[in-house]
Amino acid sequence: MAFSPRKIGIIGSGLIGRSWAMIFASADYKVVVYDNSAAQLSNAKEEIDKQLHGLSEQNLLRGDIPVQKQIENIEFTTNFDACTKGAKYIQECIPELIDLKRKIFNDLDNVMSDESIVGSSTSAIPSSRFTNGLKHKSRMLVVHPTNPPYYVPLTELVPAPWTDSDVVDEVYRLMQEIRQVPVKLTKEVYGFVLPRVHHAVLMESWKMVQDGIISIEDVDKVMSDGLGTRYAFMGPLETRHLNFKGGFKDGCKPHVWEVSNDSGPNARLEGPLLEIIQEDFNKRIPLETLAERRAWRDTRIAALSKFKRDMSNCDNNA
Ligand SMILES: NC(=O)c1ccc[n+]([C@@H]2O[C@H](COP(=O)([O-])OP(=O)(O)OC[C@H]3O[C@@H](n4cnc5c(N)ncnc54)[C@H](O)[C@@H]3O)[C@@H](O)[C@H]2O)c1
Ligand SMILES: *[C@@H]1O[C@H](CO)[C@@H](O)[C@H](O)[C@H]1NC(C)=O
Repeated sequence: MAFSPRKIGIIGSGLIGRSWAMIFASADYKVVVYDNSAAQLSNAKEEIDKQLHGLSEQNLLRGDIPVQKQIENIEFTTNFDACTKGAKYIQECIPELIDLKRKIFNDLDNVMSDESIVGSSTSAIPSSRFTNGLKHKSRMLVVHPTNPPYYVPLTELVPAPWTDSDVVDEVYRLMQEIRQVPVKLTKEVYGFVLPRVHHAVLMESWKMVQDGIISIEDVDKVMSDGLGTRYAFMGPLETRHLNFKGGFKDGCKPHVWEVSNDSGPNARLEGPLLEIIQEDFNKRIPLETLAERRAWRDTRIAALSKFKRDMSNCDNNA
């Protein structure tokens, strides 16, 4: 099959594969989703159909094309070649197991055209660990979405040492085109960037609960009703710049180091506190209600993402 600049291949039709399919379809790409489980594929088809109609009714659909067209843009197949051959870009979304990744990237290497690019959705595995030795390794990288990807647009691009920088730039533009928000790492780093920032916040929250300074419920409010409300619009560096008369430099006095140092070394998230926090959540959000609570979260994130889109349209028209 000839190279097709509007064709996207998605490998794996779980949570992340479905989201990527919907995102690319919203930008009018022809998406072909492959899974080695026919049952998963038919679930995915049904779920995508339901979700896109629901989003359309709530006026939360991404992109400017009608819902029916978006649905028609997505095909499902158990035939690997039908998905991959001639695709401009292929996004791998199979389970987080290095041996599986290695096998699928090897298979991809054998069928992809020299103009194609392959991105892995992996949350934590540097792609050099599964693309080394492959013919097309300069056209492979990590393209890490944020959950839930349909509403949270940040996408980390993590090149392996041998990924061509033009390839990174091309994926960067592709992500912008489909209204994701790409950020580019210059090299592979353990944990990538978003998880590292997230872990720093988690670590500090844990330590303050451990030291008996604040309750579990209250430390979460520091983010949801405090920092998080600003962070929906700007990061910690810009926040610092806006908060001080003399801007950023003023906000970086030794004080920052002293406070951080005072919180002591990193803790392992284990021991009695682990049980205590789990118990606390079991009471407030029992495991059997997790799905319901996730749906609650997604509705709010969806509304926020729409609000952010509307606001940025205002910015652009100003
Ligand atoms: N879930 C998240 O929050 C999240 C966020 C960012 C990135 N990721 C990453 O995205 C990837 C996919 O995660 P997910 O949550 O969608 O997983 P998932 O388990 O929901 O889906 C995986 C899919 O891959 C299919 N599959 C398994 N082996 C296959 C093979 N050899 N060929 C084709 N299909 C195969 C399965 O049938 C399933 O449909 C993982 O690497 C994960 O780390 C997940
Ligand atoms: C940094 O913190 C440690 C305790 O974690 C403390 O012993 C040390 O005195 C602190 N250093 C400074 C300069 O405050």
